[in-house]
Amino acid sequence: MRKPVIAGNWKMFKTVGEANSFWEAVSGATVDTEKVEAVICAPYLQLPSLVQSASGSAFHIGAQNMHEEQEGAFTGEISGAMLKDLGVTHVIIGHSERRQYFNETDDSVNAKTKAALEQGLTPIVCVGESLEQREAGDTETIVSNQVAAAFEGLTEEQVEKTIVAYEPIWAIGTGKTATADDANQVCQAIRETLLDLHGEEAANATRILYGGSVKPANIDELLTKEDIDGALVGGASLEAESYLQLVEAAQ
Ligand code: G3P
Repeated sequence: MRKPVIAGNWKMFKTVGEANSFWEAVSGATVDTEKVEAVICAPYLQLPSLVQSASGSAFHIGAQNMHEEQEGAFTGEISGAMLKDLGVTHVIIGHSERRQYFNETDDSVNAKTKAALEQGLTPIVCVGESLEQREAGDTETIVSNQVAAAFEGLTEEQVEKTIVAYEPIWAIGTGKTATADDANQVCQAIRETLLDLHGEEAANATRILYGGSVKPANIDELLTKEDIDGALVGGASLEAESYLQLVEAAQ
């Protein structure tokens, strides 16, 4: 049984004060940690107070990016070692916005994934096709290649600890969701890729999330699909009420 994950990705939203108000609104919620892994991936500046507040609670705090080196002359960067030291548990790697605006490549995604795992962080590795690629019928090839590249050189145990998030770029922040069947079909192709490259045990254990305009109104159907193990959520994770509804739906 794969434990579902509901991971919020706040992107570049919320001040420290707003993050604290969010925390006050969610902290009293009853979350069954046996049934769901609830994660909030916040901007770096909000991490210290969130980690402190969430300590001992049912919620995990994640980052949205990291550098692959532990330390060095990389002005403006934050390493996985620094995140680990702070008490962060998860980190999003290779979100399409980072691939698009910050030149992240399959190689850097692979290096960051390995570095995160070495630090004991849980990477949430993002993959997904553009509208053009979907219309050309290339979705499964593109996504499978991204997964193969991101997971290159990982041990079976490391594969199992890594979370994949399938986020079709055309569905991000647009209100357009892939149908649950379409999303499941791609998640199934991802699992088949993991099966071919890393074996049955790893493929069956790895959590694969869907992301792209997920909200309380569509989460139930997505979660009924065999190969969808939760969601990576942008907009709907910014409001405590809708974030908690998503967590509730998964438990
Ligand atoms: O990483 C989450 C994401 O890109 C989806 O954003 O706003 O469509 O839920 P949104």
